Amino acid sequence: MSDTTHDEPSRNVIDDRHPVADPGHEEHLPRPTDEDPKAARRAELQVTGLFAIVPLLAIIFVVCYFAVPSDWEVNFGPLHANALHVILGTTLGAAILLIGLGAVHWARTLMGDHEIVEERHGAASSDEAREEAVAQFNQGVEESQVGRRKLIGRSMLGAVGIVAVPAVVLLADLGEWPTPTRISETLERTIWEPKMSADGQTVEEYRYLVTDVTYTRIKASDMSIGELVNAQPENLAELHGVENHQEKAKASLIVVRMDPNKIKIPESRADWQVGGILAYSKICTHVGCPISLWEQQTHHLLCPCHQSTFDLADAGVVVFGPAARALPQLPIAMDDEGYLFATSDFTVPVGPSYFERNHYPEDEGK
Ligand code: FES
Repeated sequence: MSDTTHDEPSRNVIDDRHPVADPGHEEHLPRPTDEDPKAARRAELQVTGLFAIVPLLAIIFVVCYFAVPSDWEVNFGPLHANALHVILGTTLGAAILLIGLGAVHWARTLMGDHEIVEERHGAASSDEAREEAVAQFNQGVEESQVGRRKLIGRSMLGAVGIVAVPAVVLLADLGEWPTPTRISETLERTIWEPKMSADGQTVEEYRYLVTDVTYTRIKASDMSIGELVNAQPENLAELHGVENHQEKAKASLIVVRMDPNKIKIPESRADWQVGGILAYSKICTHVGCPISLWEQQTHHLLCPCHQSTFDLADAGVVVFGPAARALPQLPIAMDDEGYLFATSDFTVPVGPSYFERNHYPEDEGK
């Protein structure tokens, strides 16, 4: 190790071993304690003072350990604590802190502050060492007789290859093969879909929006401008266990009310909202985190996982972050009593993107 200071000439030679010129050190500026003996003396006393309090704290610690009853309590407003624990923690913590502060102050004011460079030898092995390694490897191959005894080599390759089969078989645990039919029944369908007649011609029951806290129906007139409500379909309560969780993961909503004059509504979704109340999927289109960080003034919804940001006043488009597509919107309407219900299922899949997914007409080609 060598001690190089700003006085030492820096190396400007560029060669194979030193492909980058040595930028050298910044100029060393002397500290007040380097030049003024009185300042150095003051720093010495400050460091000593910090260290000198430590024995005092240690004595208080030991005395209190034996003298303070273990059932004494102290109150800090609404907080209650065991007095002995507070005293022991405070004295020991303060002692360690003072040792640290003293050491730092000592290092910054009095210890030498010249930068030190440690020269290291090259990391690459020599040509001889590399040749030696190759020779040893070849000798190992020769001694294993794998070249001469081909039967062993082939049977070993067969044995190693066959152990991949159980791993492939375990892929069956991922579930059914995602055929187009299977996808349309699972990924592309949620329980917002209205209940239809047996012939699929008439709607028998629309799905009402309920809050995911009180499970009561949401009345449009109860929502004020700027308000956000986390919602789910009323019929979710009919499902239980894993099925309930799976459907909730796809059907969760955020419902927001905005000033109708400040919302941009695509032509194709003109009747999907009720007086500025819009319903969007709560599932981020990046990798599926639930979102509800709502910036009321900007109409932005932020995903806490990777900061994707969606503009709910502009059809849920992505304005920042890694998400690749807008938040799916659920078409909603209001019944005669003012309660909100879904007029259809989502028209595009919720959650993370995948290749075969549908698009909104206005997103075609994106
Ligand atoms: S899951 Fe929302 S930004 Fe990644």
